[in-house]
Amino acid sequence: MTSELVRFGVAMEQELLAHFDRIVEERGVTRSELLRDLVRAEVVRARVAKGAPAVATLTLVYDHHVRELTEKLTEFQHRLGAGVRSTLHIHLDQNRCLEVIVLQGRSDELKRVADRLLATRGVTHGGIEIVADEEPGETVAQAGKARRAHTHDHDHGTSRVLKKRI
Ligand code: NI
Repeated sequence: MTSELVRFGVAMEQELLAHFDRIVEERGVTRSELLRDLVRAEVVRARVAKGAPAVATLTLVYDHHVRELTEKLTEFQHRLGAGVRSTLHIHLDQNRCLEVIVLQGRSDELKRVADRLLATRGVTHGGIEIVADEEPGETVAQAGKARRAHTHDHDHGTSRVLKKRI
């Protein structure tokens, strides 16, 4: 985001400011820099909560012996179609599988998908990490434009993407 910096005054309790300044010192940044980082993080959090374009990694650990679980998980992913960007599957031991599913879509829908998969019988652990699929400050339209302009002149380091470039 490139725009002009605006100065404004902030009132804060002395004790809170002391905590803030300790973090400023530990990180070797300025008050302004830290405050900007905090605001950006909060803007992203607020957007994700409301239903914004997002990407997510969903991690599932499950027992593949549970009847029809593997089929159920596969079927569910097929139904999501293009929403599933990539998956990683690791056979942890004789019983347990770890699957990481990278999803793209609206943050509230991704959350719903995750809740459903995590609640499936046989899934023992897991969680989802959702991040906004746009820069804080840019509009949804700008984010879409930026995505379309992404021409892959850099190496993503995955054979799948490299194949697409040919
Ligand atoms: Ni497995």
